[in-house]
Amino acid sequence: MILENWFRDILVDPLGKEPLHEEGAFLQASYGRRYPVVNGICDLRVLNNETTADQRLWREGQQAYTRMHQDEIPRDAQIDYAAEIASVRAVYEAIPLEGRVLDVGGHQGRLRSFIREGQDYAGCDPFLEVFDGIAQQPNLLRAFPFLHKPINFVCCDAELLPFRSQSFQTVHMRSVIDHFLSPELALNEAYRVLEPGGKLIIGLYVEGGKLGRESGLTGAKEAVKRLMSSVGIEAYKDHHIWHPTAQELLDLAADCGFSPEKTHWQAGTGDMVVYVGFRKQPGLRRKAGR
Ligand SMILES: C[S@@+](CC[C@H](N)C(=O)[O-])C[C@H]1O[C@@H](n2cnc3c(N)ncnc32)[C@H](O)[C@@H]1O
Repeated sequence: MILENWFRDILVDPLGKEPLHEEGAFLQASYGRRYPVVNGICDLRVLNNETTADQRLWREGQQAYTRMHQDEIPRDAQIDYAAEIASVRAVYEAIPLEGRVLDVGGHQGRLRSFIREGQDYAGCDPFLEVFDGIAQQPNLLRAFPFLHKPINFVCCDAELLPFRSQSFQTVHMRSVIDHFLSPELALNEAYRVLEPGGKLIIGLYVEGGKLGRESGLTGAKEAVKRLMSSVGIEAYKDHHIWHPTAQELLDLAADCGFSPEKTHWQAGTGDMVVYVGFRKQPGLRRKAGR
């Protein structure tokens, strides 16, 4: 993987936030931690354990996601990628990506459809094999031609970002915050890597949608899914760690130092998917009694 110089310059150890040193096929931290470089990708993941129920659910979710990704490869010709791009075009007109962008949990970096010429982009994701099989997907490559090009990418956890503080003007999180082991830690890391006044964009399916409460039909569908999962039908298992309402998302972002600036409900989702543009505020709000 060929990384641009500016991206190399901001890479640090995800724990100590100090520079890493190259040692053969490894990146070495001063205090002894060593990370592999796998097929050219820096694997800076730290979260590794499966003791708690959430850790196990997260791991299962990542495994299910990997299987879904592999299943898509032979179905390439049937997938309407143009529709995927069109479905979110209005989002980035309403909430523009500003300056240097970090796409957390950014998968293959398909967000680059909305990155302007000359704008810097970096992606990170704990899915190490995310670029496997691209060459066998001509339809995918037609829709996202930049997938042929090098990408500034590292494999890491949103909760432990391996970037210098204040390195980005925008942090983008689309359909990911409900997957994180700790959404709060991930937002605090987003806060750290953003410049003062930086922008955070979160896109998410929210419980209760715009109304803030579940419709009878959605409730019934969810009950059927839970029933299928309980009798072992794996396809219906919900691997999300968090199921926030729009208000819960706003509350968490506020607690991590972000104020909402612009809200956009994605068309075609029945007002269930919201995108919020936030601004980084100085300081840290403490709740009464803490
Ligand atoms: C539904 S996909 C969304 C991908 C992409 N953001 C998009 O909009 O196409 C969820 C992504 O979250 C990533 N993910 C899960 N847990 C994560 C974590 N702790 N830190 C960063 N990314 C994570 C997964 O590997 C996966 O690529």
